[in-house]
Amino acid sequence: MPSGQHQTAVVTWRDRNIPVSTRFDDPYFSLAGGLAETRHVFLSGNDLPARFCPGFHIAELGFGTGLNMLASWQLWLESGQQTDLQFTSFEAFPMALQDLQTALTAFPEIAHLSMQFLDLWRDGITELVMPGIHVQIIYGDANHTVPRWNERADAWFLDGFSPAKNPELWRPDLLAAVGARTNSNGTCATYSAAGHVRQALSNAGFAVDRVPGFANKRHMTTGLMKAQP
Ligand SMILES: C[S@@+](CC[C@H](N)C(=O)[O-])C[C@H]1O[C@@H](n2cnc3c(N)ncnc32)[C@H](O)[C@@H]1O
Repeated sequence: MPSGQHQTAVVTWRDRNIPVSTRFDDPYFSLAGGLAETRHVFLSGNDLPARFCPGFHIAELGFGTGLNMLASWQLWLESGQQTDLQFTSFEAFPMALQDLQTALTAFPEIAHLSMQFLDLWRDGITELVMPGIHVQIIYGDANHTVPRWNERADAWFLDGFSPAKNPELWRPDLLAAVGARTNSNGTCATYSAAGHVRQALSNAGFAVDRVPGFANKRHMTTGLMKAQP
């Protein structure tokens, strides 16, 4: 079903409420616990909340269910920030409202935030302003949209489906565009420890580290953008 001018994601369900992409044959988050994975990989992996400061900007490849956004928002509120968190996400195949609702029922701990998000969600929506967060969603293939983006992020969540199943979201050129849109001393994190991903991030200017992964994943990758001379 089209969502504005974009194709809506088609999903099947595992364990009742874990969405699995039909197109990519991959779940949207870890079967071992989506929220715990987000906190380990993307929040801790970007040294958050320690690095939060006024005007902090997170950017993400793959909005999916919005879980990473919701977990970031919760952490931002809990850390007592007084300004809005900026959160920009790049998404080619947005999920339908009903699927978002089903997926987010798995996380009662953040239901108060999910409800505010779902109340605002409309097909094709590009901006959501909620208390403490300003979300922008940029639709289309990130290989085209990221290079056209004129902003920089302090932290990147690299959250495509697995590199084997969704290679478009891990292309060296795209990761180079990510690097070029990262502030000095900004960071990135991904659950992937694939050698070609680490190499591409290194070529993009990040000092790359391999750190313990979530659940059954031995390693994941973090990156620190070296200060510009
Ligand atoms: C693992 S899911 C992201 C999960 C998400 N971060 C969350 O919190 O639920 C990967 C996402 O990448 C999106 N995606 C895949 N290929 C893409 C592309 N070329 N450009 C933009 N988004 C893409 C998929 O539609 C999917 O929503």
